[in-house]
Amino acid sequence: MSALSHVLQGPALLPIIQAEVPSTAVAIAQAMQQGGIGSVEVVLRTPKALDCISAIRSALPELLVGAGTILSAADAQAAKDAGAQFLVSPASTPKLLQAMLDTGLALAPGVSTPSEIALALEMGIRELKFFPANLSGGSAMLKALSSIFQQVRFCPTGGISQQNLAEYLALPNVFVVGGSWISPASAIASGDWAQITALSHQACSLARQLKQ
Ligand code: 3PG
Repeated sequence: MSALSHVLQGPALLPIIQAEVPSTAVAIAQAMQQGGIGSVEVVLRTPKALDCISAIRSALPELLVGAGTILSAADAQAAKDAGAQFLVSPASTPKLLQAMLDTGLALAPGVSTPSEIALALEMGIRELKFFPANLSGGSAMLKALSSIFQQVRFCPTGGISQQNLAEYLALPNVFVVGGSWISPASAIASGDWAQITALSHQACSLARQLKQ
């Protein structure tokens, strides 16, 4: 298994794509790529999410495409079969972590407590999604965790926006920041791809300043 931080491309950002149809997913991904994004996470929360992953892979081969909201072994395998290049989950159980490891893909399982971090470490996983970041203590919690879990790095996600992005990017134990603020539902509904490109551009500028 490669570490997710080694396969991620572009600035230290992992925007979420949630789309009902593959053509919309490709339009969102393309708008993000035009704004400087190199890696995206397609969440398995719509019936066509797996088709969205395959469509982005074939339309935009230079973008790194992962699958998020992995909740079962079946999700993990289906995401891999659809072409996902890495896996992200909102939670960690021994069974789910083993299933994600079995795919051989890079991964970031979700944690929000010290015990979940310890479970992931027992299974050899050191890069974790911190979710839901804001509600789980935010950057202050990540600072507190840094002295205890010195070998762990996090992808905070949940409640992050352009307003609080910098406080997460500035933390040494954060390797990438995720979230949906770059693709607002209103922009998707109106097909305002230029807004998604502009939001991507703003976030990428900050990430380049704080994480190079
Ligand atoms: C996730 O799947 O990681 C979260 O839904 C992202 O949370 P956000 O929508 O608050 O960015």
